[in-house]
Amino acid sequence: MNDKPDDGGFDLGEADRLLTTTRAVRRRLDLDRPVPREVVERCIEVAMQAPIGGNQEVRRWVVVTEQALKDEIAEAYRSSAIPYLDEKSQDARGRSDQQERVVASARFLATNLERVPLFVIPCIEPGTDLSSNVSAVADYASVLPGVWNFQLALRARGLGSVLTTLHLYQESRVAHLLGIPAAVNQVALLPVAYTVGRNFKPAKRVDAQQVTYWNVWPTPQ
Ligand SMILES: Cc1cc2nc3c(=O)[nH]c(=O)nc-3n(C[C@H](O)[C@H](O)[C@H](O)COP(=O)(O)O)c2cc1C
Repeated sequence: MNDKPDDGGFDLGEADRLLTTTRAVRRRLDLDRPVPREVVERCIEVAMQAPIGGNQEVRRWVVVTEQALKDEIAEAYRSSAIPYLDEKSQDARGRSDQQERVVASARFLATNLERVPLFVIPCIEPGTDLSSNVSAVADYASVLPGVWNFQLALRARGLGSVLTTLHLYQESRVAHLLGIPAAVNQVALLPVAYTVGRNFKPAKRVDAQQVTYWNVWPTPQ
């Protein structure tokens, strides 16, 4: 551990490696290795340390391990994901290798979803209030930082996931299946598994300087 007085007491190289290499994992989810319950429980404990608006605990985590439930959820996911991905494939064709790779990877996940050892569905109770930007942000921002904490905690333990939202087109079907009350909103579906290998790399992103404005919004050139 690096504990020079002018830093936060972390090994910054390792902290930044965790933060910059936690990728959307689909093809490299190990579909055959079971995930122990204690690992998921510990990662949810880590997730619960993320901030919440107004100190109001609205986060709920539904962990799905039963095969019959995963089969039905996967079917619901596919019913919206496949038409969406078909459309995306058309758009991505010839655009960039990266775009085409993401679509192919998303299609792999959609096709094999029920084979992933478990799903975690983070929810908000009571449901979201979208009447104003401030209330919508307060609700989603009370759950999504925890979701990301959960994904980081997985990565630190050799597991991976991907934040997916396409099953939300079938939200009520999944709610009915899992007994989630109508007033509760699902926020995502995270397929969870050990990863095949651990060598994930930082993604290509827009240069941070290009999208960081100091003091005033830039005037258009
Ligand atoms: C709000 C949101 C919704 C997403 N929904 C899906 C989804 O439904 N299915 C999927 O396979 N990936 C989904 N993703 C994952 C993105 O496709 C992924 O983050 C993107 O390809 C970039 O990959 P990277 O995070 O490894 O850089 C979603 C990501 C976000 C942030």
